[in-house]
Amino acid sequence: MTTPLPIIIDTDPGQDDALAILLALASPEFEILGITAVAGNVPLALTEKNVRKICELAKRTDIKVFAGCSRPMLRKLVTAEYVHGKTGLDGPDLPEPTMPLQSQHAVDFIVETIMSRPEKTVALCTLGPLTNIGMALAREPRIAGRIKQIVSMGGGFFEGGNITPAAEFNIYVDPHAARLVCEAGIPLTLVPLDATHQALTSAKRIERFRKMPNRSGPACAALLEYFERFDEQKYGTDGGPLHDPCVMAWLLKPELFVSRYVNLAIECESELTMGMTLVDWWGMTKRPANATVCRSVDAEGLYALLSERIAKLP
Ligand code: RIB
Ligand code: CA
Repeated sequence: MTTPLPIIIDTDPGQDDALAILLALASPEFEILGITAVAGNVPLALTEKNVRKICELAKRTDIKVFAGCSRPMLRKLVTAEYVHGKTGLDGPDLPEPTMPLQSQHAVDFIVETIMSRPEKTVALCTLGPLTNIGMALAREPRIAGRIKQIVSMGGGFFEGGNITPAAEFNIYVDPHAARLVCEAGIPLTLVPLDATHQALTSAKRIERFRKMPNRSGPACAALLEYFERFDEQKYGTDGGPLHDPCVMAWLLKPELFVSRYVNLAIECESELTMGMTLVDWWGMTKRPANATVCRSVDAEGLYALLSERIAKLP
């Protein structure tokens, strides 16, 4: 086995974040240096608690969990309890966490880790609004040249948005942070709704989790059953899109995705299209390419990877 990839997961759990974190915890290809919580799906006090609940579900109380920013860099916080429930992790009844929250601020942890580790060795996996990363870049611009890569769930182009017709939630919540990340010259992969909307849950896929003889599998089934209901009603589909595990899957099995290296820009001026990700898929502008953007995912392959790995957890 090659040397595990050191990663920091930045997240706003969120049921789909939970499955992404569990996938990472079940994958020896990763060395998880820390998990940083950010305000997004629900306020920070809940997202940081949810990260610890997920780590305890997987019996990984060794993981360092940090609380980050409680609001976007400039705009007011917008949350999504209507999707994730009032706890942000509705579905299974997970006990209150007892593992510690680190006292260091997540932004300081990100800066300190990137500055102290050999350059171009640490990858950031972002599953929520990019506020912590934007603030880290503002706090220490030198990290831009030292980060190996950022893989980020966010945006949408031909698929449009999911919180406005133009914008996807993670980017919409903090478009200014997203623009900072997008313009920082860091190797960036974006996994947008164009790909994640192909990764629909289904009764069969959920059943695979429910039947696992461990506790993580049935918990994932309960998380997905709760999570899918909003999008099923909204889109009239059988099952809902599973967004955040696609970030870990890109690093584990990039062959599951179709992607292209193109120009990505973030709209931060117009309230009408705030947070829109402009993806120049057809090379119509002279703007230089700055991101690898995914357009599709092999959904069956994604769920096979998820099931195989989650089955290995406690
Ligand atoms: O738009 C989907 C994204 O917003 C996912 O990361 C989900 O967890 C929410 O954060
Ligand atoms: Ca998320």
